[in-house]
Amino acid sequence: MPSQFESNTNIRLIPASQFSIDELTSIYNQTRVDYMIPMPMNAARLAEYIEMYDVVLERSLVAMEGETMRGIAMLGVRADRTWITRLGVLPSTRRSGVGEALMRGLLDQSAQLGVEFNMLEVIKNNVPAHQLFFKLGFYEVGELLILRRPPSNHSYELAIADARRLERYEALDLIGYDRGTQPWTNQSESLSHGADISGLYLTLRDGSRGWLAYQRQKFTLTHFIYKTEAGDPATMAYAFLSHLHHQYPRLDTYIENIQANDPHLPGFYKMGYVESFRRIEMWRGSPPASLVSK
Ligand SMILES: CC(C)(COP(=O)(O)OP(=O)(O)OC[C@H]1O[C@@H](n2cnc3c(N)ncnc32)[C@H](O)[C@@H]1OP(=O)(O)O)[C@@H](O)C(=O)NCCC(=O)NCCS
Repeated sequence: MPSQFESNTNIRLIPASQFSIDELTSIYNQTRVDYMIPMPMNAARLAEYIEMYDVVLERSLVAMEGETMRGIAMLGVRADRTWITRLGVLPSTRRSGVGEALMRGLLDQSAQLGVEFNMLEVIKNNVPAHQLFFKLGFYEVGELLILRRPPSNHSYELAIADARRLERYEALDLIGYDRGTQPWTNQSESLSHGADISGLYLTLRDGSRGWLAYQRQKFTLTHFIYKTEAGDPATMAYAFLSHLHHQYPRLDTYIENIQANDPHLPGFYKMGYVESFRRIEMWRGSPPASLVSK
């Protein structure tokens, strides 16, 4: 692979693997100083992000003008699909073609891998990015919600259910099949790279049943993946969430990229979840059969 990519300005595109994690963190944060939703990262969090989401630094790009970093974009790579993430250009450099050059560079990298299906998410109302993605052939797939629940004194009734804890291997086994094409962050690969994954399997008196897999971080529950195997999804969601929060009353909860038309959502709202913001999921190309049937 060439160590340098040509673009239509004085900008050179260099593989991100030629920079330290500290340098990548710094340029990423500088491109986001004026971002709609502040999301600064530190080096440890960026390293964890790279690991969890299969970001390949050799195929990710930094835009350089002389010795100055001007922008960054990262590529996640999994079987038959790639993901574009962490795209940003310094505010002072915008509207000079750097964002587009970075995007085209990542799409070239994906094509070199023989992958023609590209995924990304963009925060709703981020017009510059949304327009850029449309220009490059991405189309909207749906809306995704980012939800939070503080460890409040929100009162709720514990649903009557037979609840069984799922060990990591059982949770990973359940999330591994039959869930269609999920947003990148919620694909089974993301959780399989994460620490402290476990789950709950619930059966209600009327025979409804379902499961929830999650990651328990020090202060936060996150990365929920769930399924209703039988019964009403909203009832099932309320049941597994009431058991989860009963078990961890002091933890904050943050979950990303829940489909806006997910029938489990009423159960989340009843348990005190609130919408933080929305993203639009966009794809380029069509999901290959291997993903649709997954
Ligand atoms: C989105 C972003 C990367 C675009 O970078 P950029 O270098 O300014 O973009 P370019 O100059 O290459 O523009 C390419 C295309 O993007 C779109 N675009 C860029 N800025 C735009 C704006 N302010 N309004 C509308 N469209 C815009 C246009 O389609 C443009 O093509 P055109 O020049 O033919 O009109 C940049 O605005 C940015 O870093 N924003 C903050 C971080 C961010 O939003 N990242 C994306 C997260 S999903």
